[in-house]
Amino acid sequence: MDIRGKRVLLTGASGGIGTPLAQRLAAAGARLALVGRRREALEALAGDIPSAALVVADLGSAPGCRAAVDEARGALGGIDLLVHLAGEGSFRWFTEEDDETIERLLRTNCASAMWLAKALLPEMTARGSGRLVFCGSVLGALALPGYTAYAASKFALRGFTEGLRRELAGSGVGVTLVAPRAVRTALNPPQVYEMAQATKMAVDPPEVVAEAIFEAIRRDAREVVLGGMEPWVVRLNALWPGLLDRLLRKQTEVVRRFARRVP
Ligand SMILES: NC(=O)c1ccc[n+]([C@@H]2O[C@H](COP(=O)([O-])OP(=O)(O)OC[C@H]3O[C@@H](n4cnc5c(N)ncnc54)[C@H](OP(=O)(O)O)[C@@H]3O)[C@@H](O)[C@H]2O)c1
Repeated sequence: MDIRGKRVLLTGASGGIGTPLAQRLAAAGARLALVGRRREALEALAGDIPSAALVVADLGSAPGCRAAVDEARGALGGIDLLVHLAGEGSFRWFTEEDDETIERLLRTNCASAMWLAKALLPEMTARGSGRLVFCGSVLGALALPGYTAYAASKFALRGFTEGLRRELAGSGVGVTLVAPRAVRTALNPPQVYEMAQATKMAVDPPEVVAEAIFEAIRRDAREVVLGGMEPWVVRLNALWPGLLDRLLRKQTEVVRRFARRVP
């Protein structure tokens, strides 16, 4: 997609990955509606992108998603591209995960994608053009201990994007899923970074991930798994999950130790 002049609804704009991506899209000539719950964070970002429309919305419900789309559409006159980054993390042993967190993860990380798509698709399919870009995770294809509930929400998101892409074939509207590995943002508690150091787990800077998402949009990519080994490990997991079960077993106790320290 040629970004210049495109009307872009960017959720998670106030986040670690969203902020550099907003700047990258603006530099490429996009017209932006920036969505987040924290007005101050959006206003700080708008200091760099004065032309952006700011949309304060909670995407954890269908009415919240519809309202965000309506407001963005009103400000931009239509939407050509959705980039849905808004999401929530959870690093916790599953038996210690509380019910509210499980529900919030499913709403924010998966159901919001469906609600936003429902609100946007009539306009895009009628026009015969547009793209919906969703931010998944490597954990959406390779569930790791300590991330069971989060992984479930990202697996569900991946299933949604796969089905939707197939339903939309030939409509002129494309679907992209970008799946980063760990990224250094406020989504993760400090214990994740301590574990990463102890286990030599790779953590990407948010600017690098923002650039990879930008590139995926530019190339109209279908699904992109970020990282060096990760795309291969994801494939291995799909083919031989039992092998991954055995390999991960060695790490499980280490992960549990760090997950237990999360308040
Ligand atoms: N960080 C990682 O390790 C990692 C790895 C793989 C994938 N990802 C995915 O990357 C995406 C962006 O994450 P990030 O690392 O940039 O996280 P972040 O820095 O914590 O930012 C999260 C963003 O989501 C927004 N958000 C959260 N809940 C929301 C809600 N209910 N309604 C509206 N906005 C909401 C936040 O805005 P407000 O707080 O202003 O509402 C913020 O802009 C997420 O989908 C995440 O799952 C992250």
